[in-house]
Amino acid sequence: MSRTIFVTTALPYANGSFHIGHIMEYIQADIWVRSMRMAGHTVHFVGADDAHGAPIMLKAEAEGITPEALVARYASERPKYLNGFHIRFDHWHSTDSAENIALSQDIYRKLRAAGFIDSRQVEQFYDPVKGMFLPDRYIKGECPRCHAKDQYGDSCEVCGAVYTPTELIDPYSTLTHARPVLRSSEHFFFKLSDPRCVSFLQEWTNGTQINGAKRLQPEVLAKTREWLGTSEGAEANLADWDISRDAPYFGIPIPDAPGKYFYVWLDAPVGYLASLQAYCALQGLDFDALVDPQGDTQQVHFIGKDIVYFHALFWPATLKFSGRKTPDMLHVHGFITVSGEKMSKSRGTGISPLRYLDIGMDAEWMRYYIAAKLNAHVEDLDFNPDDFVARVNSDLIGKYVNIASRAATFITRHFDGALAYVGETDGLQAELAEVVEQVEADFEARDYGRAIRRIMAQADRINQAFDAAKPWVLAKGIAGADATQKAALQDVCSRAIAGFRALSVMLTPVLPALTERVALELFGETRSYRWRDATQLPTHITAFKHLMQRVDPKQLDELFEPPEPEPTLPGGEAIAQTIDIKDFAKLDLRIARIVACTEVEGSDKLLRLSLDAGEGRLRQVFSGIKAAYRPEDLTGKFTVLVANLAPRKMRFGVSEGMVLAASHADASVDDGLYILEPWPGAQAGMRIS
Ligand code: 2FM
Ligand code: ZN
Repeated sequence: MSRTIFVTTALPYANGSFHIGHIMEYIQADIWVRSMRMAGHTVHFVGADDAHGAPIMLKAEAEGITPEALVARYASERPKYLNGFHIRFDHWHSTDSAENIALSQDIYRKLRAAGFIDSRQVEQFYDPVKGMFLPDRYIKGECPRCHAKDQYGDSCEVCGAVYTPTELIDPYSTLTHARPVLRSSEHFFFKLSDPRCVSFLQEWTNGTQINGAKRLQPEVLAKTREWLGTSEGAEANLADWDISRDAPYFGIPIPDAPGKYFYVWLDAPVGYLASLQAYCALQGLDFDALVDPQGDTQQVHFIGKDIVYFHALFWPATLKFSGRKTPDMLHVHGFITVSGEKMSKSRGTGISPLRYLDIGMDAEWMRYYIAAKLNAHVEDLDFNPDDFVARVNSDLIGKYVNIASRAATFITRHFDGALAYVGETDGLQAELAEVVEQVEADFEARDYGRAIRRIMAQADRINQAFDAAKPWVLAKGIAGADATQKAALQDVCSRAIAGFRALSVMLTPVLPALTERVALELFGETRSYRWRDATQLPTHITAFKHLMQRVDPKQLDELFEPPEPEPTLPGGEAIAQTIDIKDFAKLDLRIARIVACTEVEGSDKLLRLSLDAGEGRLRQVFSGIKAAYRPEDLTGKFTVLVANLAPRKMRFGVSEGMVLAASHADASVDDGLYILEPWPGAQAGMRIS
């Protein structure tokens, strides 16, 4: 039965570019959407920018622009990423939109009418200089437990203590450095603790979807049981939810409450509906029918594990008690790690999606790799460069793509592109039908890893059958061979190509661009694949074209190596923005002795330095100076080390700091590269100030 499905991904804050975590989530959702469409379902897949909140307001202010302008700037770069990775949202909207304002205010009014909104006085830190209440992250001070300085308002990074901002010793506002004062103000709350809420959520979290599958993954359900107090030993612990913020705030005004705005997390998920509504208006679709609580549209949200509370409690509850349709399924994924470590931009272990595309890496390698590693559980996905190379080159290219190149050559050369099968083909079709049915089910269940394993196992079977028939032997002297031998060769190759086409159908959700080319260029098919196409046997091919490049492991080095400096005007670079002495004091620059220096196998840019910075141990630092220095010329010399730079994981190992070097500001001017060396007398470990 054909279904109508409304799919979203978490709305990204509009104060930053997409990172690889966003791209992973969108690829996951995009694969699901494509696979559901291949089954004949109607899918509406929308996204939007999450535009509101204090960080966006403050960032815009720091740049001297309006929040709207800041949001617009990030919105304008979204298509580059989305198109680049073949992520095809039907519509991209913003939570700072007329639709979202109307929907959010309507939801609030209905909640209020139903008795779910409370108001009370709340005491909070207020920055008297800035004239605003401070979110916890803008308050720092001394840890009340271990007395470490400059700790955030909610927890201490040094000793791990958790506290409230009011417990900080000598608190200060990170915005103005003023001492915050306690001030009281009226706040509005959504009464999550209302018994109606709790019993609704118990039912909703345990529910099933239209197709009978569970609404929540088992681990997500377990978490909500803890929160709802229904798991053994747990106590219901649903605090009412503070949904208001005081001006100045970039957000949606709360009706009948001048100077009060919705907390960004109230209107953010409403943005799902706003985007769908805007899309419906553009397409002439019936929005009300799609979100009718009695209707049969399936509403599916893909999100990360950090925002489950919002999506499994607040969001269904606010929808339910404002009389709206509640979500049918939440799909929660883990985080992306790099070589087993939490991804961190400051440590340089992040994968920049734009850099990935810019250096010419194929977006579908990434889609394939992510698909191969995703399953239906809330597990982190580890991006491992060697694993990436292996899976793309050995599996994707070695097993799948190569079938076409091996078999098509014989067909083009000896049979002018015509395919023919000797004997019965029912067995072949039945075999393909069985695999495609399982693969389709795996995709629907979001177990892409299992789908890929099945697809690759089928590719192995096709390759084995092909090899066992030794077509290269059959092709020997084929011009003068008898009809049986010719037919045998044509049959072997035709079956391999039929298998290849079925694999292409099955890989369509993951590799939409490649399989579209296969369909069009190899088989002359102009319609996009549906699941049921997998069992049809092709009758001809056109001349085989090169389908996909292998990954060059060097590209992975390039992906992780620090980007080249931005090109600047000839003649040099403008002096950077003024900093004060406190900013400078953050840098811990030390004299270091180069104890050893070696080349790095596999890198034409890097040298590996072992540095003594007076710590009683040696540090390993990778430096992109190979073009300018021979290792033996550096050994024994002194240089300058940025000693408190967070360690950075590179392909070759961890780099624990950075040595300083001078070069022309314009990278295209080759005036050489010069590392710094102190005057004689400086000792390892001395601080530079
Ligand atoms: O965590 C985030 O990045 C939020 N901007 C996600 C919002 S999801 C939805 F509620 F809009
Ligand atoms: Zn502490």
